[in-house]
Amino acid sequence: MDEISRLEELRKRLERYAREYYIDDRPSVPDSEYDRLMEELSDLEAKHPELYDPNSPTQRIIGKVLDGFEKVTHAQRMLSLDDVFNKEELHAFCDRIWKEFENAEFVCECKFDGLAMALMYENGKFTRAVTRGDGTVGEDVTENVRTIPTIPMTIDQTGPVEVRGEVLMPKASFERVNALQEELHLPLFANPRNAAAGTIRNLDTGVARKRRLDMYLYYFQNGEDYGVHSQAEALTAMKELGFSVYPHWKKCHTFDEIWDFIEDIGRQRESLPFEIDGVVVKLNSFAQQHELGVTAKYPRYSIAYKFPAQEVETVLLGIDLTVGRTGKITPNAVLEPVRVAGTKVSAATLHNRDRIEQYNLMINDRVIIRKAGDIIPEVVKALPEKRDGTQIPYVWPENCPVCGSKLVRLEGEADYFCPNPNCPARVVRSMIHFCSREAMDIDGLGEKKVQWLHDHGFLSTIEDIYHLDLHKEELLSFKGWSEKGFTKLLAAIEESKKQPLSRLLFALGIEGVGSKAAKLLAEAFGNMEAIESASTEQLSAVYLIGGISAQSIYSFFRQEENKKLVSALRELGLNLTEEVTASVQSDSPFSGKTVVLTGTLTQMTRSKAKELLESLGATVSGSVSKKTDLLIAGEHAGSKLAKAESLGIPVMSEAQFLEEAGV
Ligand code: IVH
Repeated sequence: MDEISRLEELRKRLERYAREYYIDDRPSVPDSEYDRLMEELSDLEAKHPELYDPNSPTQRIIGKVLDGFEKVTHAQRMLSLDDVFNKEELHAFCDRIWKEFENAEFVCECKFDGLAMALMYENGKFTRAVTRGDGTVGEDVTENVRTIPTIPMTIDQTGPVEVRGEVLMPKASFERVNALQEELHLPLFANPRNAAAGTIRNLDTGVARKRRLDMYLYYFQNGEDYGVHSQAEALTAMKELGFSVYPHWKKCHTFDEIWDFIEDIGRQRESLPFEIDGVVVKLNSFAQQHELGVTAKYPRYSIAYKFPAQEVETVLLGIDLTVGRTGKITPNAVLEPVRVAGTKVSAATLHNRDRIEQYNLMINDRVIIRKAGDIIPEVVKALPEKRDGTQIPYVWPENCPVCGSKLVRLEGEADYFCPNPNCPARVVRSMIHFCSREAMDIDGLGEKKVQWLHDHGFLSTIEDIYHLDLHKEELLSFKGWSEKGFTKLLAAIEESKKQPLSRLLFALGIEGVGSKAAKLLAEAFGNMEAIESASTEQLSAVYLIGGISAQSIYSFFRQEENKKLVSALRELGLNLTEEVTASVQSDSPFSGKTVVLTGTLTQMTRSKAKELLESLGATVSGSVSKKTDLLIAGEHAGSKLAKAESLGIPVMSEAQFLEEAGV
């Protein structure tokens, strides 16, 4: 056999061996033989550079350093799933579908807790992997995905193929990765999902290879081109093409079967090799799926049932208070570390003083904590019956734990505040907010750096951020600071001066001015001077700015310190203007949708809501019909709500609407 044919044969054989080893768990050759053939292939490839193929088995194990990740627009949007949290809601979802299609079948699958990814193949070869991103635009992470051994680089299908699934980090890899992080004194990953996401976006492909990710497929994007007409057929077809499809899925005809599947998976959850956070229930037939269609964000034919929050018992070792940007005091429980919902938990929020008193908490009490997915763990119950005499009462302090000012509590409010605007904790939090991604987006000035710079006397006010260049020599004398890193930081700070006014307004942390309000203000007034001199009437004339926010903005610009800060920023050359872009957004979840408003809205008038929806690209209609995409229901919603529900039209509460609209 000539060298070229041998090279090609080796590529095929090694790809097959890898599949047997990683996917089927049934290797047909010993590891030593695999390694020997891999070496032979490497040598042949070195001799024949003209035969370079990015999909060769050798390429999976060679580390590369990437420049960045290219943004890619998905040919078909990558949707997310609507959630339900209990049996009744799930039953209602299935019933709505059975009402439409009496014979509907469902497929139940694990809801893998990782990140969604699209894989593309052409002429039987892997060509590209793209993250979900915001659903419309993702990032090309092909090189990192190539290192995942269970993803085939070649498939037996010459036409274009797009499949989607979840990239995840198995529990065993996660433990190993975090142990190594700890050894190297690097920050730990909070959970396997974060670790997987961080790994996929690492610019060194060697990191992805070492961390051992995995991927399970659940969606055959263009399956219909290959005679696939249902989800069950799609899973089978993907398996046959050589993809990993988790075998524990089931076609169900009745709700009892669906619920049995959920209970069964729930029992196995702890012992599965990866994290799952629920079960996805999908209408099986593609024809029926097409008939139901999709809403602004979700398909109408699938739903995610989320497992209930996990609760575990531990010991309350102490209570720490943190002081936020606005001075708000939050008590946090310091806990004996326990594993819950896949992560090690050693702290939980106690919300406020009332909560501590309501539970009559004592230090050393046994407590129940709860954690659901992303949600910050919280203490939900105390177990006073388990006291053993070692308990110590907790005394709520009179003074701020950081600056010593007397704490205040506003009439009728649960929270305590440190009233001192110069409290070091407040100052640091304000600066962290100022530099954050959503605000001035200064890369390199994260929480830890800002805290460090503050503690070492380099940052006492926001203005100081723009004077860090003056401390170059001194800063470079500290461990961990390099000339290169410092130059990069200064460039990021300089770049932030160009941010539009809306970001600066948000960054200043004015009470009642979130990112959406900042944008509306900046667009309405165009420049900082106009906002500084605006009356409360002029401010509240801006749509969605209420009386309280207007008052708070007005007072902000009249306080001496703030006046000084704004004029300093002006002198430093920060951009204080906003370019007004087209006012209708095309990328909002409401864009192109027909929306109906019903019931009493509490946060705004019906006409303001209509205006807001229209600015987000929606058409607002007066009556519910099959053409309606979404109903927004305020309080005491009546017949329109009933009709929307009977038609299976998604319904949003006013609060959900405001959140989605980014208000
Ligand atoms: S189907 C058209 N199936 O859950 C809808 N998603 O909360 C495409 N996920 O973005 C999704 N396991 O990242 C589907 N068996 C499964 C899944 C699954 C996990 C993820 C996926 C999706 C998210 C929605």
